[in-house]
Amino acid sequence: MERLPGFRDFYPEPLPHPDAWSANVRTHIFETWRTVARRYGFQEYDGPPLESLDLFTTKSGSEIVGQLYNFEDKGGRSVALRPEMTPTLARMIGASERAYKKPIKWFALPQLFRYERQQKGRLREHFQFNADIFGENDVAADAELIALLIDTLRALGLTPEDFVIRLSSRNAWQDFFSSRCLDTTKAYDFYQIIDKMEREDPAKSEALLQNLGFSLVDVKHFIDSAVPTAELQLVLNNLEARGLADFIRIDYNVIRGLAYYTGVVFEAFDRKGEFRAIAGGGRYNNLVKLLSGGKVDLPGLGFGMGDVVLAELLKARGLLPKFGVKLSAFCLVVDETLRPATLGLIQTLRDAGLEVDYPLVPTKPDKQFKRAQELNARHLVTLERLVDQPIAVKVKTLKTRAEIHLPIAEATAHILKLEAETR
Ligand code: HAM
Repeated sequence: MERLPGFRDFYPEPLPHPDAWSANVRTHIFETWRTVARRYGFQEYDGPPLESLDLFTTKSGSEIVGQLYNFEDKGGRSVALRPEMTPTLARMIGASERAYKKPIKWFALPQLFRYERQQKGRLREHFQFNADIFGENDVAADAELIALLIDTLRALGLTPEDFVIRLSSRNAWQDFFSSRCLDTTKAYDFYQIIDKMEREDPAKSEALLQNLGFSLVDVKHFIDSAVPTAELQLVLNNLEARGLADFIRIDYNVIRGLAYYTGVVFEAFDRKGEFRAIAGGGRYNNLVKLLSGGKVDLPGLGFGMGDVVLAELLKARGLLPKFGVKLSAFCLVVDETLRPATLGLIQTLRDAGLEVDYPLVPTKPDKQFKRAQELNARHLVTLERLVDQPIAVKVKTLKTRAEIHLPIAEATAHILKLEAETR
């Protein structure tokens, strides 16, 4: 049985083949995401992976709707696997925002599903770090989010030479659009053309723009000017005050494909331009109102950072730590009559927080020793029955070959002390 195309198995390291996805890398990325989000005062939330189809067809935009994994459930409901977290979050906020002080700062690490054409950096499932703020109109919130995005990537070892945040504004594009076209129903189609322009054949973009009454030269001129709007200048000033200006550039090529964005928008890319977007986000001040049927009107903003491009980039830049199994202690069972006493000691060691393993069934001593080495155990622990004496414990530190014999009651404290010394 093969797994479905675009889905991943995550193996513990060492990996069975070079293209396998690493469960250790995933944990490393998740732990960093959580640590930095908490540093910024964000709280973790989650929602269901399966939602009503309507939630995503309302405002995500045609591109994401075309990529939905949707079906009818056994109760006849039209449902979809979540392709993104933002509609679920806006629904949750609309239902319960009163219970929370503003601004609300939340994060989640959902697995998302999009029936995309498989290509480098794009799969049919991915994990995404989502961080969002609700209830703050000031651009100070936009800058705070971008700072969180930058610091998350910095915490993984990436520098200004590795990535850049391309900062833009839907407001700027809205002004551009409305100064040249009065038919607001065409705005989303126009934004879609801009969103795809960098990857599209210029002749095709030109033709599409002309259809809507725009010219490619005019659009290019606006992009090349890269003059920050007053709002974007405030974001730049805020990030400069934190010493993060090197990570950011005004770039009106960015407009964001999703339909709900209303203000500042941004995307993170690797500097060399080898990979797809690492992250993207922006302000969406109308989504909560729309999804709550007008009951709750709360401005929102946020970003999503995927694990796929990020893992590829970290690997390419040599920024992934060396992973492998490690154990505090491996308990040998040389005398099977001492197995119950060994199990008792193992329980005490694990209760003390130590990582401990042992042979599940009677095993030859040389095989036990080999297993301890394979698992990179720092200490070998063996119970010994000496004539006319209580059971004793031998602790051998593999690196130094130092050995000590102790009463059972002292073994845990001793191993904890040895572990603290090697940390
Ligand atoms: P998005 O730009 O669609 O935004 O996705 C954000 C990031 O998720 C992308 O930059 C990319 O790293 C990753 N990603 C997206 N699709 C795939 C895929 N098929 N395979 C691998 N990685 C992928 C959103 O989803 C917005 N909801 C983000 C947001 C949160 N905006 C406000 N709050």
